[in-house]
Amino acid sequence: MNNFDYEKTRRPEFFQENRLPAHSDHQWLLEGREDPVQSLNGDWLFSYAPSVDEAPAGFYAPGFDASAWKTIPVPAHWQLHGYGHPAYNNVQYPWDGHEAVAPGEAPRAFNPTGSYLRRFIPGEFFRGRRAILRFEGYESGIAVWLNGDYVGYSEDGYTTTEFDVTDLLKEGENLLAVRVFQFTTASWMEDQDFFRFGGIFRPVSLIAVPRAHAEDLRLTTELSDDFSEGVLRLCVKASAPVEIDAVLRRDGAEVCRAGSEPSTSASVELPVRSPRLWSAEDPFLYELYLQIRDAEGRLTETVTQPVGFRRFGIENGLMLLNGKRILFRGVNRHEFSADRGRAVTEEETLQDLLTMKRNNINAIRTCHYPNRSFLYRMCDRLGIYLIDEMNVESHGSWLMMQLGSVSPEQHVPGSRPDYREAVLARAEAMFERDKNHPSVLIWSVGNESYSGDNLLAASNYLRRVDTRPIHYESVIHDPGYRATSDIFSNMYWPAEQIREALAKDSSRPALSCEYGHAMGNSFGNMERYISLSEEVPAYQGGFIWDYIDQALWHELPDGRRVLGYGGDFDDRPHDGNFSGDGIVYADDRSPSPKMAEVKALYQGLRLTVKDGMLTVRNRYLFTPSSAFDCTVRLLREGVQIAEQRIETDVPPEGEGVYPLPLWPEAPDTLCAVTVSFTLKKDTPWAKAGHEVAFASCELGSLPRPDRTGFPDLVQGGMNLGVRFDGGEYLFSGVMASLISCRTGEKELLQSPVRPCFWRAPTDNDRGANLPMELGQWKLADLYQKAEPVSMTPGQNCLEVLLRYHLGTTPAISCDLLYRVYDGGELELELRADPTPVGRPMPVFGLTFRMDPRFDRVRYLGLGPDENYSDRRSGVRPGIWEYRAGENLSRYLKPQECGARTGVHWAEVTDEEGAGIRLEGEGFELSVLPWTAAELESAGHVYELPPVTSTVVRAHLAQMGVAGDDSWGARPAPEYMLPLEPLCFRLRMKPVHR
Ligand code: GAL
Repeated sequence: MNNFDYEKTRRPEFFQENRLPAHSDHQWLLEGREDPVQSLNGDWLFSYAPSVDEAPAGFYAPGFDASAWKTIPVPAHWQLHGYGHPAYNNVQYPWDGHEAVAPGEAPRAFNPTGSYLRRFIPGEFFRGRRAILRFEGYESGIAVWLNGDYVGYSEDGYTTTEFDVTDLLKEGENLLAVRVFQFTTASWMEDQDFFRFGGIFRPVSLIAVPRAHAEDLRLTTELSDDFSEGVLRLCVKASAPVEIDAVLRRDGAEVCRAGSEPSTSASVELPVRSPRLWSAEDPFLYELYLQIRDAEGRLTETVTQPVGFRRFGIENGLMLLNGKRILFRGVNRHEFSADRGRAVTEEETLQDLLTMKRNNINAIRTCHYPNRSFLYRMCDRLGIYLIDEMNVESHGSWLMMQLGSVSPEQHVPGSRPDYREAVLARAEAMFERDKNHPSVLIWSVGNESYSGDNLLAASNYLRRVDTRPIHYESVIHDPGYRATSDIFSNMYWPAEQIREALAKDSSRPALSCEYGHAMGNSFGNMERYISLSEEVPAYQGGFIWDYIDQALWHELPDGRRVLGYGGDFDDRPHDGNFSGDGIVYADDRSPSPKMAEVKALYQGLRLTVKDGMLTVRNRYLFTPSSAFDCTVRLLREGVQIAEQRIETDVPPEGEGVYPLPLWPEAPDTLCAVTVSFTLKKDTPWAKAGHEVAFASCELGSLPRPDRTGFPDLVQGGMNLGVRFDGGEYLFSGVMASLISCRTGEKELLQSPVRPCFWRAPTDNDRGANLPMELGQWKLADLYQKAEPVSMTPGQNCLEVLLRYHLGTTPAISCDLLYRVYDGGELELELRADPTPVGRPMPVFGLTFRMDPRFDRVRYLGLGPDENYSDRRSGVRPGIWEYRAGENLSRYLKPQECGARTGVHWAEVTDEEGAGIRLEGEGFELSVLPWTAAELESAGHVYELPPVTSTVVRAHLAQMGVAGDDSWGARPAPEYMLPLEPLCFRLRMKPVHR
């Protein structure tokens, strides 16, 4: 073998040396018994250097003294084990401004380099067999030595890299040495929006390969037009002539068997009658069992390979799965863990996939690189469609080209001849590894790399070797390269824009490869995309951006373990919390409140409950509604009073209407009917009883309280007291406000009741510059001067009118009228006219603080999760409870959160049940331990001040959260507060148990 020469790697053409050809990811057993894999994961000796030039020379030599080295786990990123620091960069390259690196070069001054050493003794099973060293993932280049000899070099650390080390392997102890370069010339096209790490982040193993070995399997399933006949074609590439005995099994029983004559490229055909087809709805897998014998007839290995029969492709401008128009209810997923970065475990991956299945997500785009093989195997089994994306993103190069600092010829990979082979090798590595997975429906040649001959060549390569459609989004900006993609893919286009585009040209199927930018409190008004997919056949769904918040655990100087984002790791440049766009939280991967909306919008059954009828639109392609139990429930004032099962049988893609039992005609109070579809049987991802779809409808209204008598007033010199059975109010003349509300001995108000107009800006608000635009309302919220106007006896109440002068320009005021009734009920009426300010209020309502021991919230309204006017498909009427302290959604940066809409009453009490009750007509409620201003000034959850209050807010309305993107999209007009006089009515009284 030759020697390694680092200088050679500094040319883009040099991206591998001695790497074995890519092949399928099938698994085998030696002689049908023995696992051929020796894991080399675990603790390796490690030395870190900030640049290649500072890395220890000759470290791979057996005599090298590494006694002072510490160990590091493999797989892992060294930045998460005390070496260097992680950096979160979206578009900009991490070296930008630190070192002048021309496109196509690798940084030199700062290029973290890890030197790894691992001693191992090969297992007995390597005797007489070839030994393959396998790296499943590293960033971004590796050079490898075994026992002092150079083995090879490779880039593209997101697909499998293998070297044949048979000739270098010895009996007894071996010394494996690996040098990992964080940056290579390939880093120009590894500019994904994510944390930048280095290291060996996926497993390393030594694999025993028999002399006669099936190196590659190619499985293709073909189906007759009516799907009644199928045939599995198997092509095997072998290292020596092999004879193959293939058995196809269904549920353990043999379906058919075939064999081949000894050959190095054997083919077998296995026909199947009435094949059970694979889809995400029924991910049925046959099992192919292969016995592989050498030319002498000795069994060298067996292979067990799952097989899914399915047909997928574009027919007449639509993507069809097994003849049906598919709808992608997808999500983009980065491999990410707050503990381990991209070194995600199988458990974490499985947790994600189960969460997706339980929430009606049927597809993943592996943004923006191929994932670990485990994910593909699980998606085959659980039923999740995949867009498998190549490891290519050169967003920074593209942006610099737009800004003029990179010429079009320099753009990477663009049409540069020096990157051509590297790009094609990435396509090949992905295709060869993943081709046999039925879950992979679409290949994607990368993300946000603009256009050019190289990506077009990658598409054409994939078209040559496979039938799956090709996806690529960025050519939307360069129609000359439109042929790169078979799909009209767009990101973050509003639904209306997609509709217009498709009205002009629907010759290709359309996807939103990214939509619903779920940054922080977001994911509002997404229904439009779902409707579009139902109205316009060419629009075949989208992929939410994205699955999990990317944040990392780290320790503060005071020892607290907290989540950090861009900028928290001394990373400069950085992109702050822009990586917090997930529908599950970073810390424990549990769903955030956005998930309820995802689940509802992605329901396979679209339901409408109206006028005593249930309409079921079945959007499953292969599942009748009869596969689910359907339960109708009647709630009276939030309490379930009846429940009944009904039978439905709506065929796949069909529609059915059913009369609803339990429908209250002319109810005398507030009622609700909910309809819930649940799994009849256990599945691998959820138990029987798991809800897959629901809908609800509210009818009637709560009876208004009866008011007789006049309140008992105590007119003091400065204060006006109102006494009633068990409690008391105090209006302060000096402070011009309601300053006390008591039940028994307990004071319920920690601060006076006052109007509120502001919310802690959400990430989307900031992205749309709304805080600046609407900032007058922050002044109005913070700076108010109250003035008593009048106190007049009304019919059976006392009317106290207060005026609040607000710190806006122009100065405006608003009026708060209290009607005090006998028995302690207060009616509050807040009126304001925002017109002179010329900007809509973010929020319009009333707020007050209570002592933090009043932290129990119980309400009748929409829940259980946080919801907003434009994000409430996933919530339902009922009586719900939470604690104020638990109501903070764990968005990476604190912001408006925890609201509930459609509230009819709410009680905020202490553990003894004493507190305040609010009543109104479907108002919005928020109870948190912090004010909007406190939330707004904290950069992280851990920066929030110690809890000293329960902050109660009741709103007429609050603007929506929006969600098309987080860099300009604002709530749709119908979810903004109108620029017209507003009036909010709320009732209030103390409660005690
Ligand atoms: C897209 C990109 C994603 C992510 C997202 C913003 O442009 O493809 O990787 O950066 O924007 O969060």
